[in-house]
Amino acid sequence: MEATRVAVLGRGLVPAGEPVLRGDDRGVLHGDGLFETLHLRDGGPWLLAPHLARLRAGAAAIGLPLPPDGALVELLDAVRAGWPPETEGALRLVCTRGPEGGGPATVYATLGEVPAVVRLARRTGVTVATLPLGVAARARPELGWLPSGVKSTSYALSTAARRWAQRSGVDDVLWVSTDGYVLEGPTANVVWLRGGTLSTVPAAETGVLPGVTARHLLERAGELGLAAAEHLPTVPDLHEAEAIWLTSSLRGPAEVRTLDGTPRPSSPLTPRVQALLNFPRRVSRLPGSGGRTGAG
Ligand SMILES: Cc1ncc(COP(=O)(O)O)c(C=O)c1O
Repeated sequence: MEATRVAVLGRGLVPAGEPVLRGDDRGVLHGDGLFETLHLRDGGPWLLAPHLARLRAGAAAIGLPLPPDGALVELLDAVRAGWPPETEGALRLVCTRGPEGGGPATVYATLGEVPAVVRLARRTGVTVATLPLGVAARARPELGWLPSGVKSTSYALSTAARRWAQRSGVDDVLWVSTDGYVLEGPTANVVWLRGGTLSTVPAAETGVLPGVTARHLLERAGELGLAAAEHLPTVPDLHEAEAIWLTSSLRGPAEVRTLDGTPRPSSPLTPRVQALLNFPRRVSRLPGSGGRTGAG
């Protein structure tokens, strides 16, 4: 996702190609930082409050000093000022621990257009393979010392999984624990429908990222006459689901159309689930074919 605009805390908008980090920034050297990806629509950030709340919870968990929310909102305002309201934007807020040896946190925001392939995934869905993660479903939160469920800039695991997906000819993956439970994707939560209940994986119990999109969908499930629940599914559970979606801020719910090579019929509920997120109906400049959905 190419950023066409960049704004830095205390400096405002800077030329997009200008460096904004020091070479010894701990965000770069160690992935020691947090970020949020928000969907910019009709000129404004969607679900801003829960994104800021998750950032603040993550910062508390890793002991990262953050500027007050007002300053973060001002930064987001600076980067989006004058952005055409009809263009969907991918808005990122990045906060790192700053340079080695101390020094202020590095805080900046980037904005670029939501890639066409991400918007296409909402319409055509995604092909997904399961991938072992090598940890038991409840192991990480049980450790106590390991901050889990934080949106860290350390995305090595996620990018490795995405490369594996690319090599394997699928759009995305779902990580599976050593005890056989489906957890999440490298940049998405999983939401599924079975017997009138919309479900997702419990974040606190497993350490998956508490997704803003999944939570929003479950909170509004009643509008579709559905119940909402959190529990851990096995892979066979997911195969038996009436519909499965990968959910993230930019993609929204993208329906899983193939799971481990097994095709799944498109669910009549997908447009209604997507409507819970009020995505703009405009689908201009979509490519003719599928591809990777590099959504964050
Ligand atoms: C690991 C992971 N899980 C879930 C999500 C979805 O979270 P949200 O809906 O808040 O974008 C993301 C988003 O990037 C993610 O990286």
